Amino acid sequence: MSYTPDIPSEPHAVCYHAAGKPSEVLRYEPLPAADPQAGEVTVLLEMAVVHPSDLGMIAGTYGRLRPLPAVAGREGVGRVVRVAPDVSHLQIGDRVRMPEDAGVWREVVTTDAATLHPVPNDIPADQACMAFINPPTALLLLNEFAKLNPGDWVIQNAANSAVGESVIQLAHFAGLRTANLVRSPQKTAARLKELGADLVVADDKDALGALNAALSGKKPLLALNSIGGPSAITLIRSLADNGVLVTFGGMTADPIRFPTREFIFKNITCRGFWMDRWARTSAKSSVSEVFGKIYEHIRNATLRLAVDSIWPIADYASALERAAAYGRDGKVLIKGPAAAAS
Ligand SMILES: NC(=O)c1ccc[n+]([C@@H]2O[C@H](COP(=O)([O-])OP(=O)(O)OC[C@H]3O[C@@H](n4cnc5c(N)ncnc54)[C@H](OP(=O)(O)O)[C@@H]3O)[C@@H](O)[C@H]2O)c1
Repeated sequence: MSYTPDIPSEPHAVCYHAAGKPSEVLRYEPLPAADPQAGEVTVLLEMAVVHPSDLGMIAGTYGRLRPLPAVAGREGVGRVVRVAPDVSHLQIGDRVRMPEDAGVWREVVTTDAATLHPVPNDIPADQACMAFINPPTALLLLNEFAKLNPGDWVIQNAANSAVGESVIQLAHFAGLRTANLVRSPQKTAARLKELGADLVVADDKDALGALNAALSGKKPLLALNSIGGPSAITLIRSLADNGVLVTFGGMTADPIRFPTREFIFKNITCRGFWMDRWARTSAKSSVSEVFGKIYEHIRNATLRLAVDSIWPIADYASALERAAAYGRDGKVLIKGPAAAAS
C-alpha cells in the first residue's frame, strides 16, 4: 500500500448553526471523526467544489435543507483512510464520493461504507470532484426531455457555466449542435468554440435576431434554461414547434414569463429538472451508470471542466469570495488533507 495520508490531529469542518449569508454564518470548527465501527470507513477529504446550490442550502433557500447545525458543501471526493474489519469492498487509498448528506466541506468523516460511491483513481482529482452534479445534469438534460438525432440543435443560456460547458461537450460528442447564449461573448466565445460550441451569441435584447440570422431557418428542439427572465423568453421564442424548454436553475431569480403565442401556436412544453430528485428517486444502478459515463468522458478527455482556483479548506472564506466574483474562469475548488497525498 503506497497511500498513507495523515488524519489531522484536530480535524475541522466548515459548519453553520443557523441559515443565513455564508460570510456571516459559516465557521471553521473542530469536528473529529470516530474510529470506524462495523460496516464503516473513515474518509479524508481530497477535493470539493463550490456550487451555487451550496450557497442556497446555507442560506435556507434551496429545495432540500440539512438539519442544523450542519456541515456545508454538496460535492467532492475523498480517500478511504480507515476501514472496519468487516468491510471488504473498500480499501485504504480508494477514492469515493464524499457523503453528501453529512456535508462535504470537512477534513474527515466516518460513515456507512455501503452508501459510498467508489470513484476511479485514474482520473484527476480536480475533475473527479465535479463529476456528480453538473455533468450528470447536462447528460440527463440532453437525454431525457427530447428525442434528438445527430445534427439537431439544442439551445442554452449561461453556456459558460459548468453545466453549460458540459452540455456543449456532451452534445458535441453525440453529434448534436449547440447554440449558446452568454453574457460576455468576447471573453467566452473562443473557449466555448474550442469545446465544440457551434454558435455563441450575446444574451441581450438582440439575441433572437442574431440566432435567427445564424441558424437560417433551423430551430432548436430543446432549450435549457438556468437564468430566467428575458433570457428564458429568448430561448422559448427560438424553439421549433413542439420544442421543450427545461428549466434547471434561476441565476437571476427572475421568474419565467411564458409568451402566450409560443405556448399555444407552437405547442411548446415547459419542464423542470432537479438532479437531486433524480438521484434520490432513481435506482442506484442508474445513478452509477450515469456517473460511470461521466468518468469515461473525463478519462477520454471528451469532457473537461474549467477550474478557476483551488483553496485549502481552512481558507474557505477566500474560496467563497472568489466563487461569487464576476469574471471567474471555471469552478472554485476546496482541497483537503488527502489532496497533498494523492
Ligand atoms: N436543477 C439541477 O439539478 C441543477 C444541477 C446543476 C446546476 N444547477 C443550476 O445550474 C446553474 C448553473 O450552475 P453551475 O454550477 O454550472 O454554475 P457556474 O459554473 O457557477 O456558472 C454560473 C453561470 O451563471 C451565470 N450568471 C451568474 N449570475 C448571473 C446573472 N445575474 N445573470 C446572468 N447570468 C448569470 C454566469 O455567467 P458569467 O460567467 O457571465 O458570470 C455563469 O454562466 C445554477 O443555477 C445551478 O444552481 C441546477
